[in-house]
Amino acid sequence: MDQVGGTKMDHADSTRPASRTLTRLTAQPPDAILELISLHAQDERERKIDLGVGVYRDEAGVTPVFAAVKAAEDRLLRSQTTKSYLGPEGDIEFFRRLLPLALGSDVAAERVAGMQTPGGTGALRIGAELIAAANPNARVHVGAPTWPNHAPIFAAARLELVEHPYLDPANQTVRFGDMMAALEKAAARDVVLLHGCCHNPTGADLDAVQWQAVARLCAERGLLPFIDFAYHGLGDGLEADRQGLACVARHCPEAIVAYSCDKNFGLYRERVGALFVLAADRSDAALAQSNLLSLARANWSMPPDHGAAIVRLILEREELSALWREELENMRRRIAAMREGLARLDPALAFLTRQKGMFSTLDLTPRQVAALREEHAVYVAGTGRINIAGLAPHDLQAFAAALAAVR
Ligand code: LMR
Repeated sequence: MDQVGGTKMDHADSTRPASRTLTRLTAQPPDAILELISLHAQDERERKIDLGVGVYRDEAGVTPVFAAVKAAEDRLLRSQTTKSYLGPEGDIEFFRRLLPLALGSDVAAERVAGMQTPGGTGALRIGAELIAAANPNARVHVGAPTWPNHAPIFAAARLELVEHPYLDPANQTVRFGDMMAALEKAAARDVVLLHGCCHNPTGADLDAVQWQAVARLCAERGLLPFIDFAYHGLGDGLEADRQGLACVARHCPEAIVAYSCDKNFGLYRERVGALFVLAADRSDAALAQSNLLSLARANWSMPPDHGAAIVRLILEREELSALWREELENMRRRIAAMREGLARLDPALAFLTRQKGMFSTLDLTPRQVAALREEHAVYVAGTGRINIAGLAPHDLQAFAAALAAVR
């Protein structure tokens, strides 16, 4: 019995499970990728290799803040006069400047609705909700494997996810015939989830001919392409990496693009992204925009500003843009060099040089993944995904040897 405001309250009833709410929850498993972060941190062995979560590391194992970001932050600190709200669309100038970078300059801005979002995940979520509002029965077709967070994001918007095969793990190639056969069966106005470049988790991207075939199929069958574009610039470079997306924008009247600045600006924890919705005409774009604004308002009201302001400053200033492009290009080359280094050490890894970006998925059993971790202090996602950007040149030999030992 507690004494509250002079009256005695009996909590006996409210402690009975039947009258509680939280007790009805079902415990959720921890996210497998994020769990690796703490497993690696707890490992006290001196030489350990972390190829788990998708963050870039330099040769010293550090995830650096870009010099261009530091310079923009410095400028921001000196020039910012208010922290007042910007509005649900976030920093409009950030969005305006990011548009040609992300989509290329051929896409007419009047066709495009969209906004700044908290990371690429925010863009995926609000894009999924926009689809659910327009067509609650849409099914989302996605190649397997895909980023594990895709399924919960679309489920949260109450959209059904339908998987088709994407990677042939033995040959490390895209099962393009199977993918097209699955998409041929999709219903009009269904959604096709595509990875803009640097496929996560396989690194196996569509080539130009395949992009064109997918774009044509989407246009013919009235399918809505939804492109997750989280690794722009880390595959073949900024221009080359958006070619698939540009092809879709040319062929299809409608498309959705979830863009992330987390990796290519190294702004992970600042949560910077954008959603671009390509509509058939100006009036549909306006309709989409009004829905996006109200969805954002109900989700996060207004996105965080700091990271987007940094990107805006970099894109506004020629000298900062040049510096950023150079730093991004160095990252891209370092990742490609690690791929080549592994391929040189082991001919069975030659496929890594045909794949792009931070990830590839090795054909490993869960037992082999566990042996890598327990016997060799090598941390790989349970699916066999490796983050190539977690490797330093001095790790290559040890990693190739550990792989050979567990196989
Ligand atoms: C990854 O795939 O490791 C990254 O995109 C980080 C994340 O949120 O999963």
